[in-house]
Amino acid sequence: MKEIKIGLIGSGWMGKAHTNAFLNAQMLFGPEFGRPVFECVSDTQEDVVKAAAEKLGFNRWTTNWMDIINDPAIDLVDIATPNFLHYEMAKAALLAGKHVYCEKPLCFTPAESKELADLAKEKGVVNYVGTQNVNNPANAYVRDLVKEGKLGKIMRFIATYDQDALLDPESPITWRHINKFAGSGALGDLASHMIAVSQMILGDIDSVNAVSQIIIPERPKARGSSEMAKVENDDIMTFMAKYKNGCLGTIGTSRVATGRKNFFSYEIQGTEGSVYYSLERMGEVQVYFRSDDGRDGGFRTVLLNPEHEGYGVFEPQAGIAIAFTDMKILEVHKLLAAITQGAPYMCDFAFGHKIDCVIDAVLQSAESEQWTKVAD
Ligand SMILES: NC(=O)c1ccc[n+]([C@@H]2O[C@H](COP(=O)([O-])OP(=O)(O)OC[C@H]3O[C@@H](n4cnc5c(N)ncnc54)[C@H](O)[C@@H]3O)[C@@H](O)[C@H]2O)c1
Repeated sequence: MKEIKIGLIGSGWMGKAHTNAFLNAQMLFGPEFGRPVFECVSDTQEDVVKAAAEKLGFNRWTTNWMDIINDPAIDLVDIATPNFLHYEMAKAALLAGKHVYCEKPLCFTPAESKELADLAKEKGVVNYVGTQNVNNPANAYVRDLVKEGKLGKIMRFIATYDQDALLDPESPITWRHINKFAGSGALGDLASHMIAVSQMILGDIDSVNAVSQIIIPERPKARGSSEMAKVENDDIMTFMAKYKNGCLGTIGTSRVATGRKNFFSYEIQGTEGSVYYSLERMGEVQVYFRSDDGRDGGFRTVLLNPEHEGYGVFEPQAGIAIAFTDMKILEVHKLLAAITQGAPYMCDFAFGHKIDCVIDAVLQSAESEQWTKVAD
């Protein structure tokens, strides 16, 4: 059994989610995909990283992420830090010849992510961008319905990714609100997932036309503080998209969407059928086929079941709820399979680069108020 020694950079929300996924992937998929070894974790503060190492089960810890890059024992660098650090950290890891798993959005500019994708190819290492919704069994099912022609010619994609996590104006400023740390607001944080899933199902976006708004222009520097800091990026972003396959799309996203908790939802309308899906009801896909019309017509619910790609590893029967963390397990399994068996995978840095190209075009369009072509 091949050991894969992991160096995790960033022990926050995603650092924990990744570690949980590695542990469970090993248990669910078996030793032939490698045995993750939690070798070293890095974070900025000693007390934080020490506690994280103990809780997550890492052998060692450091407050200098370059220790992980320079450590010959480490095979895989796992980057779960704020967006502005991805490029620098992933580049250093690739130059050191490590496999790299990096959270989304990959980079701030298409030029940076292209450089990383090219470098990864040159080094011949596995390069995986964290876009777990691509591995959601429900989205894979929808992809197959489209591919098999069950929905006919796809005419329209209508999508929303809304949360209200940042609705409270008293909630303090974070790295997510400041462009030099985040690159964009709800667009990169939330809509990047919808861009990934839609491009997985429908192919690439050709051009976009966007509008954006900041709803809460300043936030306290700390909870309860009267000192305020400026919010620099989109609370809301909405854009129209023309896909290369001729489909027309509208994608909206908000991080201040009152009442919406994790409303990743979309409808795809084709000439022969339609589907509707929402992550708030993760185990259910609504489908409509024209051929069912007449007395029994209308949307009906398909409950996820072991026939759907990835589901069966968790549950042997239909209709049992799977979760966000399970999508991460499926993602990490793809990553381990690529490292240990050379298995193909979709979400490489070239895929991350394509998402960055769409984000860049949307930002340009929101600024210029013009249709903007997505760079090839
Ligand atoms: N795939 C998803 O669904 C998903 C969900 C949430 C966040 N994310 C992405 O994951 C990344 C991290 O987000 P998060 O929510 O986990 O953030 P977080 O703030 O919870 O965690 C980030 C961690 O990185 C640490 N860090 C910052 N600078 C560092 C440095 N120089 N060296 C080492 N550690 C450093 C922070 O101290 C913190 O512990 C972001 O890019 C975000 O877009 C993805």
